[in-house]
Amino acid sequence: MNSQALLDKIRQQFDGVPYPSVPVEKSPKDELNDLFAHSLATPYYLYHRRMVDTTNAVILDAGCGSGYKSLMLAEANPGARIVGVDLSERSVEFARLRLQYYGFENTEFHAIALEDLSQLGLQCDYIDCDEVLYLLPDPQQGMQAMQAALKPGGILRVNLHSAIQRQPYYRAQELFRDMGLMDDNPEEAAIEAVIEVFKALKPSSKLRSEIWNPRYENPDCAPEVLANFLLQGDKGFSVPQMFDLLEAAGLEFIRMVHWRGWEIPSLFQQPDDLPALWAMVLAEAPEPMQLYMHDLLHPSNRLIDLWAIKPDGTPPGDPVDTWTESQWRQAVVHLHPQLRHDLVRQTAIQNVQQGRPMEFSQFIAMPARGEVSVDGAIAATLLPLWDGPQPVASLVNRYLTLKPRHLVTLEPLSEDEALLQVCATLNRLDAFLYVLVEPGL
Ligand SMILES: C[S@@+](CC[C@H](N)C(=O)[O-])C[C@H]1O[C@@H](n2cnc3c(N)ncnc32)[C@H](O)[C@@H]1O
Repeated sequence: MNSQALLDKIRQQFDGVPYPSVPVEKSPKDELNDLFAHSLATPYYLYHRRMVDTTNAVILDAGCGSGYKSLMLAEANPGARIVGVDLSERSVEFARLRLQYYGFENTEFHAIALEDLSQLGLQCDYIDCDEVLYLLPDPQQGMQAMQAALKPGGILRVNLHSAIQRQPYYRAQELFRDMGLMDDNPEEAAIEAVIEVFKALKPSSKLRSEIWNPRYENPDCAPEVLANFLLQGDKGFSVPQMFDLLEAAGLEFIRMVHWRGWEIPSLFQQPDDLPALWAMVLAEAPEPMQLYMHDLLHPSNRLIDLWAIKPDGTPPGDPVDTWTESQWRQAVVHLHPQLRHDLVRQTAIQNVQQGRPMEFSQFIAMPARGEVSVDGAIAATLLPLWDGPQPVASLVNRYLTLKPRHLVTLEPLSEDEALLQVCATLNRLDAFLYVLVEPGL
């Protein structure tokens, strides 16, 4: 099939069933994990180790579909101008209405192909291209178009389907293509046919046991059946192919979006005592190779989903675990913007009042592996962060007021000891981006 014919089929598919099929009344305001992933502050800090001001930032939702993620981008990035593009006119209409419904006015939506992005003359601070690139007839062309629409220093979030993780779905798609279910634009009849085939197969048959979920038989799940078994243009890729695309477009990798899901040591029974060969390989292999190894060992991630930057010559910031004491003394601490949520603040205050630890990971689990919490005195020390950024020095003073003596020896705590304890906690919380620590000027 030629590129134009494929684009037409994709357009028809998403005009028929705009994605995602989330009703306009559903607000993502409390979806803190998703907002964390859609907040420019997250990848910006990972690269620069600085906070970003999103007022008037230009944010493009590339392949915005029905606009649920555009709404997340608007919620997560206050004051930003949100631009959405999508091949499907009907999806764009939905997206436009959705943002209007929530009162976001600094927005615009265009029914154009990603490949034609240059028509808009954008210079974006951030491009979010989620669940789109794997559909393009030529992903390289799409990547180049986005690279050209980024400002120098702009950040791209982009993903491809993993060919390894999704292999059984591609078998199913090939089967249904051969059966003629994808010749025209697949709609209700094709979805019913897919359900019929799977229902009739023995539960032990390979394809059914690998990918069929009885939930798919529910009429509400029709869009999911379409998106997995009958998706026009769906293709799988390897981690090296993704990195080749980045390199060809002159983009520099920042980090995987769900980075905890790509850690090789966690696949071993004893992560702290790896077989000698693995310990050596992991110490030496470049990050793309490690990610590829993860995909080969344990293909659990459907998406090869990452952030990359269009370099502008600014070197990455130094992570806080490399800082000297004098850097710490001058630093300023911010709460991650998505933790400034009222519910999180109220919980923090209640926990402090009741002398209970404050568990950050209960609100944003995405960057954590297991529970991440701080004890009562530290939680009380951090409370002013809900009012705004705080110099480390003033947090240390507050800590000294709250905990003036050693709990065991009852000796007065020195300022140096207080600094050490506060910074140890900030260092730990920074690893999960619950706090963002900026160097002083
Ligand atoms: C799976 S949906 C993802 C929608 C949205 N990004 C999200 O994650 O919720 C894929 C979207 O990409 C759009 N699309 C596919 N190919 C495109 C292209 N070449 N240019 C622009 N949009 C495209 C489709 O119309 C569809 O709305």
